[in-house]
Amino acid sequence: MHPHLLSVDSLSRDHVDHLLRVAARMEPIAQRRKVTRVLEGAVLGNLFFEASTRTRVSFNAAFCRLGGSVCDTTGFTFSSMAKGESLYDTSRVMSGYCDAIVMRHPEQGSVAEFAAATHVPVINGGDGPGEHPSQALLDLYTIDKEFTRLGKSLADAHILLTGDLKYGRTVHSLIKLLSLYAPMRLTLVAPPGLEMPSHLVDLVSDRGHRVEQRDTLASDFRDLDVVYTTRIQKERFTAEMSEGFSLSRDFTVDRVFLDQRCGRDTIVMHPLPRDSRPDANDLDVDLNGDPRLAIFRQTDNGIPVRMAIFATLLEVESLIERDLRDVRWFVPAKFGVDDAAF
Ligand code: ASP
Ligand code: CP
Repeated sequence: MHPHLLSVDSLSRDHVDHLLRVAARMEPIAQRRKVTRVLEGAVLGNLFFEASTRTRVSFNAAFCRLGGSVCDTTGFTFSSMAKGESLYDTSRVMSGYCDAIVMRHPEQGSVAEFAAATHVPVINGGDGPGEHPSQALLDLYTIDKEFTRLGKSLADAHILLTGDLKYGRTVHSLIKLLSLYAPMRLTLVAPPGLEMPSHLVDLVSDRGHRVEQRDTLASDFRDLDVVYTTRIQKERFTAEMSEGFSLSRDFTVDRVFLDQRCGRDTIVMHPLPRDSRPDANDLDVDLNGDPRLAIFRQTDNGIPVRMAIFATLLEVESLIERDLRDVRWFVPAKFGVDDAAF
């Protein structure tokens, strides 16, 4: 694997398959049945200059579960970038303190700029509307796990990506990752002005996938395997775009859409957070408790996948099984009150 994880462009199909296999080997640790110390002594620098719950905490937890320690900073205000320090200087300084760095930043390309100034592995935790490669890997891992349970395969799968496909960085990384696999059918549904960038549509078509773009969910999707819905990224809108924008309820994935338009085993994914404010019209909470709603299985999968990324970048993946011990504390069931068994 490339020394940094900045974009899924650096991953071949073999790299991705290898990472997903390493992630599967991390499950006993991620599920708190086993403990390892393979990264004992290593320090992760977690630099988040944009809001985050999942990515920041799960990268942190994944590094700790491998036996390492984490230094966390959040926001510009408490970083010396607020005093005008460049990404270059910050990168060089952090490399003296840490063995790996995860960074999220509001500007596309900024994490790559940061990585260019260091030999310490840097992982892009989201760069503006650019990419979010670890999210795409955990999304693919989730699809693979759900498909295995349902007896399906990626070949010929029908996947619907909907919501803000223009600024949603998770779908930018995911569509590229999916394109490495056997030809499938991709339906892209976005409100006008928020369509998938055309270079990504061209890329997946050129790789032999069937891509269809629409501006409405009002259609029959009975053969759909996955609906992957996303939040409108209003924080990336220009003032002009924000003015008067509201997402029509017609773009909401809810129980009626799933029951009336999709198949009985269509799974629902979302990178989260879902915007639960009343007029956001994001993924509806009326699907909570429905086994087709995979969003929390998806967030749980962030741990083994991020552990696999660290183990691979820091070259300890061959040591994992040698170092395992049983956990000694009481591990409560991690299912939430709304999680459905399947
Ligand atoms: N959490 C994801 C991201 O940071 C998706 C989102 O914020 O809507 O890209
Ligand atoms: N999916 C995701 O990146 O979530 P956060 O923004 O909470 O990190």
